[in-house]
Amino acid sequence: GFSRRALLGGTAAGVAVGATGGALARAAAVPAQSRPTPLGAARAEFHGPHQAGILQPQQARVQLAAFDLAPDAGRDGLRGLLRLWSQTAARLALGEPVGAHENQVALDAGPCSLTVTVALGSSAFDKAGLAAHRPAQLAPLPAFPQDAIDRARSDGDLFVQIGADDALVAWHALRVLQRQAAGTAAVRWQAAGFSRTPGATAQPRTGRNLMGQLDGTNNPRPGEADFAARVFATGPDWLAGGSYLVFRRIRMLLDDWEQLSTDRQERFVGRRKSDGAPLSGGTETTPVDLARRNPDGTLAVPADAHIRLAAPASNGGAAMLRRGFSYADGVLPDGSPDAGLLFLAFQADPAHGFVPVQRSLSRGDGLTRFLRHEASGLYAVLPGVPAGSGYLGQALLE
Ligand code: HEM
Repeated sequence: GFSRRALLGGTAAGVAVGATGGALARAAAVPAQSRPTPLGAARAEFHGPHQAGILQPQQARVQLAAFDLAPDAGRDGLRGLLRLWSQTAARLALGEPVGAHENQVALDAGPCSLTVTVALGSSAFDKAGLAAHRPAQLAPLPAFPQDAIDRARSDGDLFVQIGADDALVAWHALRVLQRQAAGTAAVRWQAAGFSRTPGATAQPRTGRNLMGQLDGTNNPRPGEADFAARVFATGPDWLAGGSYLVFRRIRMLLDDWEQLSTDRQERFVGRRKSDGAPLSGGTETTPVDLARRNPDGTLAVPADAHIRLAAPASNGGAAMLRRGFSYADGVLPDGSPDAGLLFLAFQADPAHGFVPVQRSLSRGDGLTRFLRHEASGLYAVLPGVPAGSGYLGQALLE
């Protein structure tokens, strides 16, 4: 069978996402002109120790939504909803119709590498009578100096990340999940994002953000010895195989940023824009040498460069898997773009991931002056569902 990875000739995260023989057999039964392309037919496996949408390469489109439980939903309501969403997410990942809530929006496309990733916010534990099971890691994030957080676009009892290589496929999945939640949970906030479309570049490469930088280069890689310890939760027991997700809607002050010379922009980040190489030398993948000095004695990667202040070496080893998407939502009343990064970072424990890194960035990072954190969320990403049985959150809810 073909896979998104084969299609792209390898991916940044190096995770194979294959199509099944079943999908191919079904494809063979429909006329050639209505068969999905390899891009449309590519699928990500729903079942496994971890939910899909963490290790897969970023898809071209994302829909993020947080839901709040109805006052009378309780533990049974939450369980029923997670059961239903689990069945639906498995079907959507295969590109199959979803029954009563099917609206035909994604009818002509295949699954387009669709992933649905579900997580719980701290408030869900109170509303579902599960406060005794709330992980200590879900304690509220501290306030950071430049925060301008709008709580109406933050938090939420349930969080869903839907990724797909087609905008209609992603929106269809969101609409179906929303309709299935009716009476149990309602959308609190929603955000749509995008990243590079697979096949748009001659070779698969790290995507660019709206500041034009290659973003994601120095992420932990699945082959590395400490990858799981950095990304997947170690506790509590019911969360084994899960993770903690920090969401930040970060607006970029692009009108100001774009006034800077490329050279100044590169020194605020510590990498070249053209090819992502660190200013300490080499290519995109060359390890950063934070100690290296220029012939004039100045630091090659400046003292206020983003990659210096964000590096594990500067933060007691703190690390996370960043999997953010760009957003562009028109213009603000002052005419500036309402655009930036839907920052998403998966980590074993925010106290050894996002929190120390953001503290360090907010103290002196050159990039931070051109950013506004406008929304925030912290969620426990449920473990994956084993093939054949079970549903998301089963170990917590039974
Ligand atoms: C690295 C951009 C926000 C943590 C990078 C890189 C870029 C970048 C271009 C270098 C390439 C790479 O390794 O991915 C941005 C932009 C942001 C943003 C545009 C906001 C809009 C954040 C935030 C955090 C963070 C909020 C965490 C609190 C990191 C880390 C690295 C990194 C850990 C890797 C550092 C290393 O070890 O080399 N970022 N970033 N970034 N960023 Fe950000």
